[in-house]
Amino acid sequence: MDGSISQQGRQRINGKLAELRERQTSQTVEHILEFNKTPMQLKADLDRYVIGQERGKKVIATAIAFHYRRLGQALKETLGANEGDIDLAFRKTRTPKANILIFGPTGSGKTYTCETVSGLVGVPFVVEDLTKFSEVGYVGQNASDILVDLFISAGGNPHVAQTGIVYLDEMDKIATEPGLTRDVSGRGVQKGLLKMVEGVENIVEIGRERIALSTKHVLFIAGGVYDKVEGIVRKRMEEQALQGEWRDYLLTEDLVAFGMERQLMGRFPVRVVYDHLTTRDLKEIMTRSEDSPLKAYAGDLKAWGIDLTFTDEALTEVARRAGKEGIGARGLTSILHRVLLETMYQLPGTHTGSFEVNASYVKAKLTGS
Ligand SMILES: Nc1ncnc2c1ncn2[C@@H]1O[C@H](COP(=O)(O)OP(=O)(O)OP(=O)(O)O)[C@@H](O)[C@H]1O
Ligand SMILES: [Mg+2]
Repeated sequence: MDGSISQQGRQRINGKLAELRERQTSQTVEHILEFNKTPMQLKADLDRYVIGQERGKKVIATAIAFHYRRLGQALKETLGANEGDIDLAFRKTRTPKANILIFGPTGSGKTYTCETVSGLVGVPFVVEDLTKFSEVGYVGQNASDILVDLFISAGGNPHVAQTGIVYLDEMDKIATEPGLTRDVSGRGVQKGLLKMVEGVENIVEIGRERIALSTKHVLFIAGGVYDKVEGIVRKRMEEQALQGEWRDYLLTEDLVAFGMERQLMGRFPVRVVYDHLTTRDLKEIMTRSEDSPLKAYAGDLKAWGIDLTFTDEALTEVARRAGKEGIGARGLTSILHRVLLETMYQLPGTHTGSFEVNASYVKAKLTGS
């Protein structure tokens, strides 16, 4: 066997792949066409993973449920009017999009919420770092890079790719206020983004195939730290003698004052502010989230016949120390790693059964910090 495939064999494989893709298209797109989760149901699903951020999760679940319901219904209608031609339906369907802007501290669950929600809806999800975006040839190059990422994330299915979610990370870094910009002009990048968010079509070359993909139905969620925005809003509230929660008063003009282009902000009408995670939130992430880093460690140790448990005080201590790191929930992973390093090295092969970690154990492992 030299590993080469005959011409005929190759044709057969290609035929099979095309058939498979076709079937996959109708199945996966059907799931968007039939999308019927209510905002409340979606929020309840999110609660299993994302802890805290109650207001944010509500707003996001509502925006996402409405987006996919609207898109599904509109696609279904055009599909019916065009004899089931799915390509045509994607091209002809017009729906308003309500893109989302999330800001909040590092490690508070911005990206995680979006990734989780896209998994729950069953659409591709990609993260794009805006600091890597160049101004030069922007709409062409950057849009086509994003479309390729979506296409890959959709398992090579062009229709599914066009219903995905793009998370634009570090949106605050492309602000134009002096001192906040990097070397490139944020304004140029923001102008280019404007077109992409509205919808641009690109011919993407994948191997020998040329596929037309558009961002028209893609939902964009931009995230950033935006810590200075709070100050801007508070100052305006003071000037206008307004009282209450600053986030209730956030206006487009505050984002403009921060250095964002008004037109671009107009394309992100849904605004969400994430909170700092409290010690209690951090503790709950360990005990309740389905992606809990503690559950992951416990699962690993279970494979060696060790039943790891933490006392309530130990959990509080870990959460407190993780909070001090100032990196949100990411602090949990690093603190837990330090607490459990020795255990993970020594116990497998020398101990089976229960192993309880208490507060003094945690403190002993974290001395020197
Ligand atoms: N509210 C939360 N509930 C459960 N897990 C969380 C939460 N927030 C963060 N995490 C965990 O911490 C990790 C990092 O969070 P995430 O990537 O969402 O941070 P972020 O808010 O996007 O921060 P950055 O501004 O640095 O990008 C997640 O992968 C998740 O495991
Ligand atoms: Mg993030």
